[in-house]
Amino acid sequence: MGIIEKNKALMKEISRIAEVAGYLWTKGWAERNGGNISVNVTDIMNEKEKSIPAISKAIPLQEAMTELGENIFYVTGTGKRMRYVACNPFENGVLIRIAPDGNSYEIIAEQCILPTSELPSHLMMHNYLRKIGKNNRVVLHTHPTDLIGMTHNKHFLNSQVITRTLWSMIPECRIIIPKGLGIVPYEIPGTLDLARATIEQLKEHDIVFWEKHGILAVGEDIIECFDAIDTLNKSAQIYFCARLSGCDNPSGMTDKQLDDLVEAFGL
Ligand code: 13P
Ligand code: ZN
Repeated sequence: MGIIEKNKALMKEISRIAEVAGYLWTKGWAERNGGNISVNVTDIMNEKEKSIPAISKAIPLQEAMTELGENIFYVTGTGKRMRYVACNPFENGVLIRIAPDGNSYEIIAEQCILPTSELPSHLMMHNYLRKIGKNNRVVLHTHPTDLIGMTHNKHFLNSQVITRTLWSMIPECRIIIPKGLGIVPYEIPGTLDLARATIEQLKEHDIVFWEKHGILAVGEDIIECFDAIDTLNKSAQIYFCARLSGCDNPSGMTDKQLDDLVEAFGL
């Protein structure tokens, strides 16, 4: 057994990532290699584990991740399928270590697999959230069918409109996603422009839509990030079901009903 596998806390975190990868696949949100995950695991590794020899050369980053020096992340691999991350997280993802100056990273376990093409954007978000003092650990990107469908409707490409619509479909949505959703107009996947536009939206929201592409959630806990996206997608499904049931323009809960939730749950 390698040094990494002896770390029970790390293995537990990896199994939670695998659990979520399985949900993404069974939900139908992870066609082929759709979606990617990165989780900061630095705090659950001891000094010896953190300094294990790299199995790759240093891979340069386009921008210095000044807040992430020596941090270690589990990251899904590019082109890897969530359904296989679920059963073999270390054959479909890697542990990477950021260089002390934040200018590059190296792979430290377990196989030399290239991280997700969205790595620059994930790291930029981790870096930004650290910089503003958040204890953020997770960036989760996936392709939820119903939510993506809504971003094809121009009417919903407005943060306030889509947030109000989804909040008003079930009370839980208002409670679980209190900061609502940000919208990023279509950008080429994997680009730094997409990352920068997402960071702008993360200033006000925890969850961001990428028009006609997918959704991105950040947070401290991977299960919580999944649950937030799941709740939003459920609201989208209820919106569609309400329309199918004959209601052309479901108005959802009233402003008063939504405001009462804010008071009742101290949001
Ligand atoms: P990767 O396979 O490189 O993670 O890309 C999947 C994806 O969803 C890109 O947005
Ligand atoms: Zn994607």
